[in-house]
Amino acid sequence: MEFVTYEQEGFIGVVTINRPKALNALNTEVLELLNKVVDAVDLEKTRALILTGAGAKSFVAGADISEMSLLSKAEGENFGKIGNDVFRKIETFPIPVIAAVNGFALGGGCELSLSCDIRICSENALFGQPEVGLGITPGFGGTQRLARVVGIGKAKEMIYTASNIKAEEAYRIGLVNKVCSADELLDEAKKIAKKIVRNAPIAVRASKKAINDGISLDMDNAIVIEEKLFGSCFETEDQKNGMKAFLEKRKVEGFTNK
Ligand code: CAA
Repeated sequence: MEFVTYEQEGFIGVVTINRPKALNALNTEVLELLNKVVDAVDLEKTRALILTGAGAKSFVAGADISEMSLLSKAEGENFGKIGNDVFRKIETFPIPVIAAVNGFALGGGCELSLSCDIRICSENALFGQPEVGLGITPGFGGTQRLARVVGIGKAKEMIYTASNIKAEEAYRIGLVNKVCSADELLDEAKKIAKKIVRNAPIAVRASKKAINDGISLDMDNAIVIEEKLFGSCFETEDQKNGMKAFLEKRKVEGFTNK
């Protein structure tokens, strides 16, 4: 069985973690495959990615506990690095990535969704960082990204208590942008992706880079990142065509990614 699958639908790529027997838990093999699949995305023809889990029950139920149970200190650190490297690749991937969270998003699953740009979830989704209940810290970025998304107080509460939260609570605290029925989840993710891919791809990528690169800087330095990327758009065909269409009071006829 292929543990990570990829489908191309027009400008949209759908990546599915496909290990439903273990609720899509992430072992080294799955992480390595995810890395390969992301590397293989053709950025000439793909303008947004959707990341989801196979089956109706689970997005990703965390890092693989059977594999982790026997790790030494050095091996634990290395396992963390394997996950962190691929999650960071997703976070900094040039095009937007939408997590369609279809059930359990626990530990590494919550962390995987946090490495995506946008999260939506099904009504049966459950988010949490149960690691301290297993004697470890979150290991794929949870101690860093959760606080950045939901604020430090809520992140600390979730991590220290190892308590899970349901979809509505995840929405209330801003962990997800939308909750929908399980049947509609993928279509909703595609709707968002379609809205993204009809915009100028270079401008969308530059916006992602500006937000990501600026977020950890002070405002004086962050705003310079925006200035440079904003300026770079003015040498694109899409900027010329987009503004010309506006001034001629017509819709732009599709951006060319040039
Ligand atoms: N690792 C390995 N196997 C897992 C798993 C995980 N994280 N989560 C589920 N599975 C396996 C179960 O062992 C079980 O396998 P078998 O059928 O071979 O016994 C199968 O998936 C189905 O799971 P359950 O029978 O437990 O299903 P359930 O519906 O009763 O419970 C659940 C679902 C509440 C998600 C429960 O499986 C669970 O608590 N899973 C672990 C969640 C967790 O603690 N995740 C965090 C891991 S630590 C981490 O992620 C560290 C990090 O930050 C990098």
